[in-house]
Amino acid sequence: MASGAGSNFEALVHACGDGTLPAEVALLVVNNPGCGAQQRAEHLGVPWRLLDHRLFASRELLDQALAQAFQDVQVDLVVMAGWMRIVTAELIQAFPDRLLNIHPSLLPSFRGARAIEQALAAGVTLTGCTAHLVREEVDSGPILVQAAVPIAMDDTRETLAQRIHHQEHRIVPLAVQLAAQRLGLLTPAQG
Ligand code: GRF
Repeated sequence: MASGAGSNFEALVHACGDGTLPAEVALLVVNNPGCGAQQRAEHLGVPWRLLDHRLFASRELLDQALAQAFQDVQVDLVVMAGWMRIVTAELIQAFPDRLLNIHPSLLPSFRGARAIEQALAAGVTLTGCTAHLVREEVDSGPILVQAAVPIAMDDTRETLAQRIHHQEHRIVPLAVQLAAQRLGLLTPAQG
């Protein structure tokens, strides 16, 4: 699931393609027509679908459609790779312990939108990213993998975001692997 540039989506596709992760990205769902993630899927040859949140009367109806889209292709895991919408029980309960999120801070610090700006404004010297299982409370849920990113004195939002993204691309495939192992979908030897 992606709303924007889709660099985490692409990192997952590459991890599957180069054998780092014994998995396949069966489907990308985007909510913003023509977004970077959609363009990357077209380029990479990954099936994609558009579920535009503006065309649904409620979050629940959107999430029902998302769950159905994933059930249609029988996925084992769903990754919110930059899905900029709050999800509801409709999706979370359709994929218990199988729905992952990536967030650009060391949770539980800096939940919610603009986590990178929050870290800069707080003046902390260390931030990072977190891959976790999704629960109904936003940016909560059991942590799977975290990576720390030091903040330099002269960092801007862009320079810091770039280094956080680099770490996200590393930990998202690891988190998928870990979640799959916990569910017994992969043995520890597989990856
Ligand atoms: C990432 O920073 C992720 O942590 C946040 O949204 C961003 C998505 O980036 N939830 P991209 O679309 O994968 O490039």
